[in-house]
Amino acid sequence: MKKTKLLNSSKQEDINKAIAILTKGGIVALPTETVYGLAADAKNENAVKKIFEAKGRPVDHPLIVHISSYSEIEKWANDIPISAKMLAKKFWPGPLTLLLKKSKNISSIITGGLENIALRVPNQPIFLNILEKMDTGLAAPSANIHKRVSPTQSSHVFASLYGRIDAILDGGDCKVGIESTIVDLTSKTPRILRYGPITKQDIEKVLGYNILAPKKHSKKVSGNMKVHYQPYTKLKILDINEIKTFIEKNDDKKIAVMQYSKQKLNHKNLARIKMPSNKSGYAKILYNTLHKIDEMKVDLILVELPPKDWSDVLDRLLKASAKN
Ligand code: TXA
Ligand code: MG
Repeated sequence: MKKTKLLNSSKQEDINKAIAILTKGGIVALPTETVYGLAADAKNENAVKKIFEAKGRPVDHPLIVHISSYSEIEKWANDIPISAKMLAKKFWPGPLTLLLKKSKNISSIITGGLENIALRVPNQPIFLNILEKMDTGLAAPSANIHKRVSPTQSSHVFASLYGRIDAILDGGDCKVGIESTIVDLTSKTPRILRYGPITKQDIEKVLGYNILAPKKHSKKVSGNMKVHYQPYTKLKILDINEIKTFIEKNDDKKIAVMQYSKQKLNHKNLARIKMPSNKSGYAKILYNTLHKIDEMKVDLILVELPPKDWSDVLDRLLKASAKN
């Protein structure tokens, strides 16, 4: 068991401590605009290995490398298509990850043995500041135990990784709350690998042509595993009428309902959790809500089926509800 240092990003001295730990090959949880990431110097193989150990992540699940700006891209990737530049210009820094051919000198430990590398410039001033000072890339998956709900506050990281990592840098709540969109630019027609805050339509608008949707449960992308983002409490997705029928029949159970519509629900053991009715508001608090409900020790979480075009939210909820 490690002694995990708790650092506060409002103190420059603590940011410097985080940099010192990372420079020496340690692993530190850092805030990004999407979720907290568990960072290591991407040029230090031993440091990167520690990420897989701490998360209990299989070594063939590749990591995203975070860089400070588009101008760094050639240090990490080869054969960069024009689409990369167009998308980066519009969306970086921000929640879009580009999959490109990796440079020969980049360790395949980061890419899980694959020939492609995932890159993004995060839109988080503290993270960017650290990247600029370190003059390297930071490999960082979400800072949670493999397959579990991602962290959007430092307390979530603390609850799952305390004792397994060197430090946690608190930077408040993540503004976006859901992981970046991943788009594969390595074949002729780009393909979304993971839905995220930047939609397929947003990308198509910039490129001027249609791109491909994710393949189902592609093994290459751990975000595409059937089971992922799982709370400890069982979760079911139902439409609001099914929820009404379900709770009438199960009034002996303690149930939490995540509802964005306004209908009244009658049930004596019900914790009704009001969710925002707009997608970005919903995404922002989704993981925090799941973490909170886990603490409430209810028997079941019922989630009101979100609108069809909330692809990223729907994707995370479907995986959270999938059976092992
Ligand atoms: O918003 C985010 O993307 C957050 C923050 C911390 O930046 N990171 C994140 O990382 O969600 P992670 O590891 O939890 O999810 C990254 C996804 C995984 O599903 C992984 O398989 C995929 O990116 N990925 C990374 N490198 C890849 C590669 N070379 N080929 C295919 N998929 C890759
Ligand atoms: Mg993750």
